[in-house]
Amino acid sequence: MSELLIRGRVLTFIDEPKGIDDTASYLTVDDGAVLVRGGKIAAVGDYAEISKTAGAGVAVADHRPHLILPGLIDTHLHFPQTQAIASYGAQLLEWLNTYIFVEEQKFAEPEHAAFIAGRFMDELLANGTTTAVAYCSVHPQSVDAYFTAAEQRGMLMVGGKVMMDRNAPDALRDTPQKGYDETKRLIGKWHGRGRAQYAISPRFAITSTPEQMEMAQALVAEHRDCYVQTHLSENKDEIAFATSLYPDAKDYTDIYARYDLLTDKTLLGHCIYLSDREISVLAETGAVGVFCPTSNLFLGSGLFDRDRFDRLGARWSVATDVGAGTSFSMLETMDEAYKVLHLQGQRLSPLNSFYRMTLGNARALGLQDRIGSLHVGADADIVVLDSSGKSAMELRMRTAKSLTDELFILQTMGDDRCVSEVYVAGKAMKKRKATGAARALETA
Ligand code: GUN
Ligand code: ZN
Repeated sequence: MSELLIRGRVLTFIDEPKGIDDTASYLTVDDGAVLVRGGKIAAVGDYAEISKTAGAGVAVADHRPHLILPGLIDTHLHFPQTQAIASYGAQLLEWLNTYIFVEEQKFAEPEHAAFIAGRFMDELLANGTTTAVAYCSVHPQSVDAYFTAAEQRGMLMVGGKVMMDRNAPDALRDTPQKGYDETKRLIGKWHGRGRAQYAISPRFAITSTPEQMEMAQALVAEHRDCYVQTHLSENKDEIAFATSLYPDAKDYTDIYARYDLLTDKTLLGHCIYLSDREISVLAETGAVGVFCPTSNLFLGSGLFDRDRFDRLGARWSVATDVGAGTSFSMLETMDEAYKVLHLQGQRLSPLNSFYRMTLGNARALGLQDRIGSLHVGADADIVVLDSSGKSAMELRMRTAKSLTDELFILQTMGDDRCVSEVYVAGKAMKKRKATGAARALETA
């Protein structure tokens, strides 16, 4: 079985950091190494010790002085919106109608879906993200394109076709029965195939009739091992519209609760304007509120109240939400998360940021045994970060005194230029891309 020894400064979380200096929450090894065998992590620790347990002549990827972390995880974004990032001027509902529902129609075309899916996966990897949870378009062929591109790269990706049967253009609407049948067939085809995981995806209450919600309810009951993803309480006009469509519901959250869509496998994008009652429902059901800072600022939606989630015991994760989100980079996302919380008098420590992008998001997905930390038996999804990836960072790093200083610099100033390498199931993906480009040049 092939072995690879990845050498550098190892950093991995064991638990959520309780404060700025909670050294018990993580493991760090200055001259560390991760031994990869057959795509999984076989050992983690001191380079000197680990190299003894490796087979003779093992290949060594020496990344010193860079940081070796688990691959980053993004818990909410939209693959068909890759070319719609930076669409000017509108808030949520106008933005959807003006830009997004036009863009997503292109995904009826399998060639277009395949092209964007490939570029989407490469963009994630270039930013150090090895697992993401994405919405595809309403077209089943977009789901095929998405999981095919993930499979070609060996990535653990979660996704699903959006279900929409109203308040969207004809070309983007399914029906309750069609949405059910297509989702069911896609689950049969993709869920659990290799590393693929399916997410049942009614887009949001505005674009699904009660009949479609009932079909989503049936799908969730029949496929307890699939994820569920939808949007909740992102924008005030959206909330007024959604609740007007479901007059019997107590509030927006109750719409989803009535159809049994809230479980510990449910990811709810945004969750900005929830009442204490609604957050308590998330806490009771285990559903996760997904904080999407660059999107919430870009669309002028509002500020996610992390402290209230923590106080009421509800789970939350972090995500880019491309293409309302403005960057594929989880580092840039945490930079904005810091600012959104700061505006509300809340603090996000650099340790907590890095926990959130890795083990925290893995826990939100219930995948902590497989991804999100560097432990023996985990999948070898790994990112190598260069804290001096930009010249201004190199200069700033000269004054850094601690690991937390360094992490804060990375999150505040960093982007894809800081991703020195990324491994998917032990395979170096930057090298793979370079080889692909070289081959393209040769054949040109
Ligand atoms: N609510 C429903 N659909 C979407 C979407 O595509 N992006 C965002 N940000 N919110 C939504
Ligand atoms: Zn979204």
